[in-house]
Amino acid sequence: MALYRQMVANLPLETKQDPYSNYLDNSCGDGNFLVALLEDLSPFHDPYWVMNHMIYGVDLMPDNVETARARLGLTPDQPGWFHVVCADALEYGYEFPCPFPGWTESSG
Ligand SMILES: C[S@@+](CC[C@H](N)C(=O)[O-])C[C@H]1O[C@@H](n2cnc3c(N)ncnc32)[C@H](O)[C@@H]1O
Repeated sequence: MALYRQMVANLPLETKQDPYSNYLDNSCGDGNFLVALLEDLSPFHDPYWVMNHMIYGVDLMPDNVETARARLGLTPDQPGWFHVVCADALEYGYEFPCPFPGWTESSG
């Protein structure tokens, strides 16, 4: 994890401070980069906001998606669950559909 922490530590401060910044790892594996982002961004924002509104992941392998969601603390009742999806990122056809009525990116 040290390398991932080092990578995200070097992101621009103004990007980290913006609550509407989005981060995507389109081959996220079991979530190393996403977990490092959650750790790094949490001093700037509520961790619940970070994991549900700021970070996104895609991976071909269902077991990796399951592990990444678990490491991020995501459960199916949270929008962030639907932001880590199993898909072929090279197809560019994936979406991050949130099934909760009335929910928008800015509604919390
Ligand atoms: C070496 S791992 C990297 C995982 C993560 N980014 C990390 O640094 O820890 C590569 C991952 O890419 C995924 N992958 C490979 N091709 C992909 C594709 N076309 N779409 C989505 N995921 C893909 C694999 O399933 C694997 O989990």
